[in-house]
Amino acid sequence: MPLERLDLMGLRNLADLSVRPSPAINLISGHNGAGKTSILEGLHVLGLARSFRTRQLKNAIHFEREKLVLFGQLAGDPPVPIGLARQRDAESPEIRLAGSSLTRLSELAHWLPMQLINADTFRLLEGAPKARREYLDWGVFHTQPAFMACWQQVRTALKQRNALLRPRHDRIDPLMLRTWNHELAQAAERLDAMRQAYVEALSPLFDRILGDLTSLPTLSLSYQRGWDRQRSLHEVLDEHFETDRQMGFTQAGPQRADLKLRIHRRAAQEVLSRGQQKMVVSALKLAQGQLLEQHTDRHCIYLIDDLAAELDLEHRQRFCAQLEAQQSQAFMTVIDESTLGYDWRSDTSVSHFRLKDGQLKT
Ligand SMILES: Nc1ncnc2c1ncn2[C@@H]1O[C@H](COP(=O)(O)OP(=O)(O)OP(=O)(O)O)[C@@H](O)[C@H]1O
Ligand SMILES: [Mg+2]
Repeated sequence: MPLERLDLMGLRNLADLSVRPSPAINLISGHNGAGKTSILEGLHVLGLARSFRTRQLKNAIHFEREKLVLFGQLAGDPPVPIGLARQRDAESPEIRLAGSSLTRLSELAHWLPMQLINADTFRLLEGAPKARREYLDWGVFHTQPAFMACWQQVRTALKQRNALLRPRHDRIDPLMLRTWNHELAQAAERLDAMRQAYVEALSPLFDRILGDLTSLPTLSLSYQRGWDRQRSLHEVLDEHFETDRQMGFTQAGPQRADLKLRIHRRAAQEVLSRGQQKMVVSALKLAQGQLLEQHTDRHCIYLIDDLAAELDLEHRQRFCAQLEAQQSQAFMTVIDESTLGYDWRSDTSVSHFRLKDGQLKT
């Protein structure tokens, strides 16, 4: 569901704003420091209760204000209001969803599936496996209702097993170890099956979108589950017990899962140019949005910061055409709209928000 209303108060340098975004394309333009990224940050905080710019949400509160208040309304019958307030001296934000206080953040994420494409998205290629696992689990979470419970079981079992392995235990209770090995192996096999099925469904979409965005030699996307493909996790845990004990933690398992992107058997980031990398990470994100729609009939909201950076005119145009074809709501920042060089179709609803020093220009 798209956001049909957005109010931002006390956020960074922005004046208090209340806007009616388009259900499709929203272009946010303005000079450096105008507040463009801050609008995306506000949307991100509303959907995930955390910023992509700072670990401490209080840094996003305007210097001279005591609190940050964000409000959004999802279109629907009835519409779904979402509100978040963060006081400067509070520990955490207060969040209200559809008239009630929010208890679990996963509920918020469920209502507002978001995809962010910004300079940090490159971490998907060049960063540690954690970023790719998060990417993968975003998709599984939004398409598999059983994911959350399974993932929590994995986490608990892993925590308990690691606690047993800590050096302070000179004797490990074999019954406890067997219990947690069993719990972990069972939940891990289920999580693996969900992740694997997800990547299988994602791969053809990713290939197609990437092919539309740019011409690249064959790039392969593959999933590694975090332990030997030929053996059960149970066997692997038993076999690695001594080394796990020496290390003090569990080495193999779904906590080590990864996605590999390879060209000519080399890691994609070792081969691709910066612009090509941007196309690859964009294709990964756009493919997730498309799969979400296929599986659940829900659309995600795209937050795209500084699209034009690193892309030539042709690639900007191809990106815009893909985004337009997704028919999802998108908020996209550009310094100057004319640099996009793209003519939106006449039936695409496009809203323009021009910012100057934190104020909307009409
Ligand atoms: N807590 C804060 N209170 C007030 N102003 C802030 C705060 N934090 C940052 N700023 C200022 O807010 C502005 C917001 O910048 P923002 O990153 O949103 O701009 P932008 O339009 O995305 O610029 P660019 O094109 O350079 O990316 C900057 O001028 C910054 O100095
Ligand atoms: Mg910016």
